[in-house]
Amino acid sequence: GSYALAVMFNEYPEEIYVARKDSPMILGVEDGKSYIASDVPAILKYTRNVYYIGNMEMARVRKGEITFYNLDGDEIEKELKTIDWNAEAAEKAGYEHFMMKEIHEQPKVVGDTINSVVKEDFIDLSNVGLSEEDIKEISQIYIVACGSAYHVGIAAQYVIEDLAKIPVRVELGSEFRYRNPLLDKNGLVVVISQSGETADSLAALREAKEKGVRTLGIVNVVGSSIAREADSVFYTLAGPEIAVATTKAYSTQLVATYALAIQFAKVRGEISEERYVELIEEVKTLPEKIAKILEDKERIQWFASKQVNAHDVFFVGRGIDYAICMEGSLKMKEISYIHSEAYAAGELKHGTISLIEDDILVVGVLTQPELYEKTISNMLECKSRGAYLMGLTTFGKYNIEDTADFTVYIPKTDPLFATSLAVIPLQLLGYYISVAKGLDVDKPRNLAKSVTVE
Ligand code: G6P
Repeated sequence: GSYALAVMFNEYPEEIYVARKDSPMILGVEDGKSYIASDVPAILKYTRNVYYIGNMEMARVRKGEITFYNLDGDEIEKELKTIDWNAEAAEKAGYEHFMMKEIHEQPKVVGDTINSVVKEDFIDLSNVGLSEEDIKEISQIYIVACGSAYHVGIAAQYVIEDLAKIPVRVELGSEFRYRNPLLDKNGLVVVISQSGETADSLAALREAKEKGVRTLGIVNVVGSSIAREADSVFYTLAGPEIAVATTKAYSTQLVATYALAIQFAKVRGEISEERYVELIEEVKTLPEKIAKILEDKERIQWFASKQVNAHDVFFVGRGIDYAICMEGSLKMKEISYIHSEAYAAGELKHGTISLIEDDILVVGVLTQPELYEKTISNMLECKSRGAYLMGLTTFGKYNIEDTADFTVYIPKTDPLFATSLAVIPLQLLGYYISVAKGLDVDKPRNLAKSVTVE
């Protein structure tokens, strides 16, 4: 199987021997002290000097001194790497919880991630390692991820297919790895992962490589397993994310997929130069629009305070709005412990509507103009069965107030990029309900930040 071991011997005091296979491990040294951890944020407070121990390698750890060996016991050289992330990034900086701090960091880190590839009025993917020839050759995209990163994939599917006209299939890592997937040899497997260590995502990446298909990682942690093993890497610049429920990493992953979609569309001749520049300009406005939504957070806090006794919440939307619902629903259940479901609004009538009864909260997400009326009618179906409605839509769509009991507006943007804005109130909703219920927001029960086991 896979392991990351730290072993002490009675006969060798002051020494720890470590070994790893597939499971993550990093080692740090500073001022006569040594550190062993599964990822960088855990030791940032103590040191930024890190060694990455490779697969099937061992090390002898003494105070401030680490020696590496291969399985034959021969000594091997390792380079000590310095991590750019600073320790403050791993502190709460006056916020009550990491999650709230990370929600507020989104305008900055989304901007940083955009700026890493957007140069004035064009996108440069050379650091990612994708040439124009590579992009032209792609016949099919397979996005593989887990948890929130999977929800990024669902949203990205709409954006990539709409702009670049490349067929996209999105799959959970845990499904992909055991499905013996049929992969086109000119396909591109995109693995999205904050930690770069999620066991199922990593196994999916290896499966794709074994089948000889090109792989691209969208990863936040430099030097993580997925970053090291993927053929190309698009680094999101979210910085260390400490809260178990992801917010800022999710948002940076989203904009990374937008940049890919826009550039793929341009290189493959699917959009005009004008549209290309217009899309880039729009993406650049997202950080300030996210900041604007955050200014109004008290309204969500007020609404959340009324929802602490909710038992079931339904999130409904169509198209990209359905992708947004999936993430909103996950935020709700993982930190507030309230049962919630995301439903494609048109599918409600095929079963779920039987669960709607008096005062159940139904959150309708309506950022896609062509689907607006359709979702409104689904919300009305719920209302007539007693549901209490929250509507989340764009400024200007004020007639939502005829239907919804509580409304939240987000700034206008290209509908393709609406996920980046609509997710913010839903993150806040999950957060404030969790706080109001007195739960452990940053470390919800039964969950782990990096799921390095199956
Ligand atoms: C865990 C986290 C989620 C995250 C998922 C995938 O379940 O709690 O927030 O979305 O893992 O993690 P990754 O590091 O691969 O993005």
